[in-house]
Amino acid sequence: MSIDAAEYRQRRDRLMKKIGHGTAIFGSAPLSVMHHDVEYPFRQESDFFYLTGFDEPEAVAVFAPHHEEHQFVLFVQPKDMEKETWTGYRIGVEEAKKQYGADEVYPINELNEKLPQYLKNADRIYYHLGRDDTFNQTVIRHWQSFIRQYPKRGKGPIAIEDSNPTLHPLRQIKSAREIELVRKAVKVAVEAHNRALEFAKPGVYEYQIQAEIEHTFGSYGMTPAYPSIVASGENSCILHYIENKRQVQKGDLLLIDAGSSYHYYNSDITRTFSVGASFSKEQQSIYELVLEAQLQAISQIKPGNDYKTIHDTAVCVLVGGLLDLGLLKGDFEQIIEEEKYKPFYMHRTGHWLGLDVHDAGVYQYGEEKSVILQPGHILTVEPGIYISPHIKPAEEQPEIPERWRGIGIRIEDDILVTEDGCEVLTAGVPKSVEEMQKI
Ligand code: GLY
Ligand code: MN
Ligand code: MN
Repeated sequence: MSIDAAEYRQRRDRLMKKIGHGTAIFGSAPLSVMHHDVEYPFRQESDFFYLTGFDEPEAVAVFAPHHEEHQFVLFVQPKDMEKETWTGYRIGVEEAKKQYGADEVYPINELNEKLPQYLKNADRIYYHLGRDDTFNQTVIRHWQSFIRQYPKRGKGPIAIEDSNPTLHPLRQIKSAREIELVRKAVKVAVEAHNRALEFAKPGVYEYQIQAEIEHTFGSYGMTPAYPSIVASGENSCILHYIENKRQVQKGDLLLIDAGSSYHYYNSDITRTFSVGASFSKEQQSIYELVLEAQLQAISQIKPGNDYKTIHDTAVCVLVGGLLDLGLLKGDFEQIIEEEKYKPFYMHRTGHWLGLDVHDAGVYQYGEEKSVILQPGHILTVEPGIYISPHIKPAEEQPEIPERWRGIGIRIEDDILVTEDGCEVLTAGVPKSVEEMQKI
């Protein structure tokens, strides 16, 4: 199951309606080489994929709604049996034209020759300067050549405008089909987390737990959405710990942040539990606090509410709890205002989720105005508290006693905004205090 041709067409039509007299250019991801000719697994650029569904490297999509004949043009690698023996199957020009709904398809080596006809009557170029600097330079060179001709022609693209603000609002609201794909990725990640909960015991290595999780992903044809984090003991305080090589000890906290990817749509789940013992008193109080922050933050998710409220709610709960526990001291409002909680909670409470794990789309319009939640938004809610062994409290804040140090807890769920509220897509992984103690 994936996105059908009609939906890709609808996406392109929406984009083209927005760009009017402009021409938009999207490059595929290049084929990247790891070392000595060994290739990284290929991962398509999400914008390019969103508009085309085309999953090969070294391709370019051009959208020129003002062009008389060709509004959607693809440049692809031509068939080349000798090359394909090394690089794998390429669909080629003719087949791409049949399958991908383009008005015209050219071999990629004709890009420089053919591109100008789609730019010459455009008033601007929509293009995101991305990671592929060679391609960035190609687009800039074409633009410059029209700028040079401008005095004579009085016509042509006078600006390159970043394509993100035009395309990303479309990506931000998920279609029914996209929601289904995220659900599939979620289902498998839920199974993987439950399997890890079963498997984790004192004496196993973090990488063995990672292998269990990724075995589940692989057995459904899915891949990790990002490097899996399996962080035991003090490692739980490192936000992006991916070494995963420590042996888990009895009484450790184990923080697992792992998600799967299905047709490039992602899931992203974190659970933290104790291994081989009940929570210590300190672990339990922090766990309860993070869970309360997460539940209250989720309760703010419904159409019409500000995105920003989710983070603000989590911060309020966390700061209140840290004050009650004596880990912060002083005035509640002032601590929030001066961000004195940051040594414990240094990241945001979530992000959009979709074709990218940190998905496309803005969160704020300037300082004051937050994005308003709408049905079809999918986001994560992932508050945490991290009391590093090396924690440095903010100015005038108390030193942290040893017994609290080394506790890192994050709880992360994926949430769909619905017509009348929200749905916790990842509810299949337990998170109650009772269920998170593996004795
Ligand atoms: N695993 C990446 C994140 O939670 O944002
Ligand atoms: Mn996340
Ligand atoms: Mn995560």
